This record gives sequence, C-alpha cells and structure tokens, in this order.
Amino acid sequence: MPEYNYRILIADDDEMIRTLHAEFVRGFGYDVEIAADGLEAIAKTSLGVDLLLTDAHMPNMDGFEVARRIRRTRTSEDLPIVMVTSLDAREDRLRAYEAGVNDFINKPVDHTELRLRLKWLLELKTAQDQLKRSKQNLEDTVALRTRELRGALEEVTRAQREIQGAHLDTIRRLTLAAEYKDHDTAGHIERIGRFSQVIGMAMHLQPGMVDLLLHAAPMHDVGKLGIPDSILLKQGPLDREERAIMNTHTTIGGEILSGSSSPVIQMGQRIALTHHEKWDGSGYPNGLSGDAIPIEARICSVVDYYDALTMDRPYREAVGSDEVVEMIEADSGSAFDPHVVDIFVKARVEIEKIQLEYIVEPTT
Ligand SMILES: [Fe+2]
Ligand SMILES: [Fe+2]
Repeated sequence: MPEYNYRILIADDDEMIRTLHAEFVRGFGYDVEIAADGLEAIAKTSLGVDLLLTDAHMPNMDGFEVARRIRRTRTSEDLPIVMVTSLDAREDRLRAYEAGVNDFINKPVDHTELRLRLKWLLELKTAQDQLKRSKQNLEDTVALRTRELRGALEEVTRAQREIQGAHLDTIRRLTLAAEYKDHDTAGHIERIGRFSQVIGMAMHLQPGMVDLLLHAAPMHDVGKLGIPDSILLKQGPLDREERAIMNTHTTIGGEILSGSSSPVIQMGQRIALTHHEKWDGSGYPNGLSGDAIPIEARICSVVDYYDALTMDRPYREAVGSDEVVEMIEADSGSAFDPHVVDIFVKARVEIEKIQLEYIVEPTT
C-alpha cells in the first residue's frame, strides 16, 4: 500500500460495469471517483485524480475525445489513461493511441490484469512526478545561484570601478604636480590624453590600447618633477649643461613609473622615457628610431608638440594651428613618424573641436 491513497476516476456509461470496476479498484486499496459519461469524466479530472480508467464508447463524449482534451489541458496533460476496449477493436486502439491513451485493458476486465496495469502505471506516474519536482527544484536552485552570482559580480565590478577611478585619479594628480611645476596647465595634460586617444582610434589601435592612451599620455613629462626649478623655470635659452639636465626628465619619468603592474602606468613609463625620441634617430635619451620607438610615444610626441605650440605661454604667444601643422608636416619623417603625421592631419577637425572646449571653459 502506498503512503498516499491514489484516486482512480472510472468513466463508463454502463452502471453495472462502473460498479464492478469500482469494487475492483477499491479492493486494490485506491479511492474511487465515478463518471457516467465523457463530460462528467472531464469535469472530475480536476478533483486531483491520479489515473483515468475509461470506456471507449460513451454517449455525449466518447473516451477518445476525453483523452484528447485531457492531453490538451496543462494540469492534466500527463494523467495516465487506461481504456477499456474489446479484443477485436484494432481500429479503436490505433485511434486511442493517437488521442493519447497510455494503456488498454480488454473487456471483460480481468481482476488481476487490472490490478497489475494500474499498479504499474501509478508507479510510473509517481516516478515521473518526482523527476519533475527535482527538475523544478534544480531549476529553482540554478536560478537562485545565478541571481546570487550576478549580484556578487555587480558588487565586484562596482568595487573595481571604484578602484580604477581612484587609480586614475592618483595618476592624474601625480601628472598635474609635474605639469604645474612647468607652468603647463591641467588643460594641457588632459588634451594630450584626448588627442592621443583620437589618433589611436583613427589608427585603428586595439580599443584597450586606445583607452590606455587616454590616461597614459598625460604622464609624458612626469619626470620634470626631478628637474631643478632653476633650469625648469629659467627664462631664456638653456646652455648645454642645463639642456642635458633638462633632457633627463625622460629617464627620470621612466624611473618614477617603472616596475608597475598597472598597464596604464606601464604605458605611461614607455611614453615618459621615449617621447623625445625622433623618427630618424636624432632624439634622446637613447637615439631610438622608427618602429623601435613605441607607437604610443610616437603619437604623444606629435600631439604634445602641437598642443604646446598652440597654447599661450607666459613667455610667448600661441602659434596659429595652421602654422603648427605645417611645422609638423615639415618634420614628418625626421622628428615624427610620417604615418602618425598623416593621421594627425586627417584628424585635425576633431583635434580642434577638443581644443575649443577648453577655450570656452579654460581649466587652470
Ligand atoms: Fe617632455
Ligand atoms: Fe607636455
């Protein structure tokens, strides 16, 4: 006997047969519901029955139609259905299969055969229900874990963004310190980042690299922190010795930024060290030439030159942008990478647009 009492719905228009089948089924230890025709059978499936034992031919609605309707109803679609048919009714059996009947039993119903068929189908149904429940439980668990995981990921992303924000802020402040010392402006270092980004994008560098350029290019002159004010702020030309000291802002910057695990600072280090190298090898500190100079530094040297000259300084007025572009073009292939110069010239409209933003709202 199962712990739970199965409820069997018996549908038959013949009262004697109904009564006989009901007696059998009760004798097996199951509860019984009775229906006198198909319509009543459909109505009673909603009473929480576990199996339907139905006659094939009944008035109002026959057993085939009952089976079809039950299969179309979500709450009863997997209810086991056993149809009572005559041995020779082969056509009935084919139609019944199509309608969704699970099993047959011949008229007149044999007591033992009915007991075994019901037992087997009810056990199968119980196993299927359990499977369905554990599948649902599994789905619920997966959905819950997914929600938890998503929440945790959002938290990690938020924290990473905060750290990244603080990280970039630190870089910006460090860079500003060097630029203030040199009478440059916050506007200058920001523009260098943005110009470099524009050029990097126009050169189709990888997006990650373009992002790095935005934050790394402003670090180019960070080494000026190590140059004595007497040289850095001197009005008028530097002598040879002073010039040599001044040029060490590249190696000093390289040292300040060396050994970092941060890709932004690593790129900043390369730019600080090599932004005064020249395409033809006549630059400093190492006389690198051509592709031996990192692309980020080749970009930075063009935009730095452009921005420095088009910017007002305490000791000289800004040079017009047309004139500066001509100067850059004249130095293409000697000081500057010709490809970067080409790209820069093509991107001028965008560069000037960025410059305008700073003229409207000057940053100090
Ligand atoms: Fe520099
Ligand atoms: Fe600069």
